[in-house]
Amino acid sequence: AITSTTNAMTSPPVNAASLSLGEQLQSLYHLVRSLTDHIVEPLSVEDCGVQSMDDASPIRWHLAHTTWFFETFILRSQADYQEFNPHFGFLFNSYYHSIGKQYPRSRRGLISRPGLSQVREYRQHVDQEILTRLQREDFAIAAEPLLRVGIHHEQQHQELMLTDLKHMLSCNPMWPVYRDDPFDACNAPASTTPTSDEWIEIAEGVYPIGHDGNGFAFDNESPRHPTYLPNASLSSMLVTNGEYLEFMQAGGYERPEHWLSMGWATTQQQHWDSPLYWLRHNGEWHQFTLAGLVPVELAWPVTHLSYFEADAFARWKGRRLPTEFEWEAACDQVASTATTPLDQEPFADVLFEQDKCIHPTRSPDGLMGTVWQWTSSSYAGYPGYRPAAGAVGEYNGKFMCNQSVLRGGSVATSSTHIRSTYRNFFPPEARWQFSGIRLAK
Ligand code: AVJ
Ligand code: FE
Repeated sequence: AITSTTNAMTSPPVNAASLSLGEQLQSLYHLVRSLTDHIVEPLSVEDCGVQSMDDASPIRWHLAHTTWFFETFILRSQADYQEFNPHFGFLFNSYYHSIGKQYPRSRRGLISRPGLSQVREYRQHVDQEILTRLQREDFAIAAEPLLRVGIHHEQQHQELMLTDLKHMLSCNPMWPVYRDDPFDACNAPASTTPTSDEWIEIAEGVYPIGHDGNGFAFDNESPRHPTYLPNASLSSMLVTNGEYLEFMQAGGYERPEHWLSMGWATTQQQHWDSPLYWLRHNGEWHQFTLAGLVPVELAWPVTHLSYFEADAFARWKGRRLPTEFEWEAACDQVASTATTPLDQEPFADVLFEQDKCIHPTRSPDGLMGTVWQWTSSSYAGYPGYRPAAGAVGEYNGKFMCNQSVLRGGSVATSSTHIRSTYRNFFPPEARWQFSGIRLAK
């Protein structure tokens, strides 16, 4: 629902087929970079410099890091490219050891220079270089694979910017408003919540899991491989705030029998007694959102939960979390039988139509687009998985230990970024993403 107001967003749809590859990539690149500007638009210089916790980064860092990614993976190999600033590699390399050393993540908030205007110049410099070079078809052909990774990388950081920003603003007792419109502010509106609890049945069988190679996918979605699934059912609904409140009122946070050992230890240590961003205000439960502090809406999907809380809730309810494979099979099943226009939209890897470059989207139907859903699956490589050669191989593969898979995308995910095979991953204690619960039985 975050729709850009820039010209690029409102110009008439372009027929992708009549464009050269270079023109298509220019268009795509420009749209994604413009959406980043749109996300930053309501923010002040001060908003862009704060780091509120180790896991979050200042907005200005995100702006520079996504730019560094294009510079490093695409421009650096061009003989005639002049790097913008020799210090930026150290400052804005996130975690690629094969490229070089990195400034520590937890201290990114201490870096006041380059300031916002210099980071904007850095972005313009790299944009200009990429867009100019894309006029040459041989460059477009050679750059396409990594350029697409860079574009999807920027989309990942758009979501991280929204979640990091939410965490940062939540630290301010004035409860600042990022955007007034609750939809723009990534609050899942009640109207997108399915109202009838049905179960999506997965019949015992062998299902293809993983990306089929049509359109973009990250390497961790491959290889596609057959997977046996026993009979199972997934709820058509996400768990709501109201249901989660029942768990809280039933003493859910006080009763160790619902919790994994690590989860119990974490809730005790962190003094968790509600989802992140919930607080009592004038005796009523409220939640901090990007539209400020609002009363907890019982019908909204519950969000900002850790894996531990999702798991404890499911256990209390006599259900369980789905595996990521059950989730994917159910998602494909729902998508192929849905009759609503939203689901007929192809999951195309193009952003030419104005309405496709938006946050968020396709929530009323299918399993995607409202909150990320914790699965019971540990993040691991599929059979035969090989990370890409070179530094970009550090992108996903090296994190395949001690993290859990989330599926489905959230209100903060671009509609063009999510698909049934997409695997998000976070450590089980992470709560600052838009993470919620879909139950299985
Ligand atoms: C897939 C969201 C866990 O946050 O590190 C950003 C996304 N990868 N830059 C992360 C990502 C490289 C990644 N997550
Ligand atoms: Fe990154």
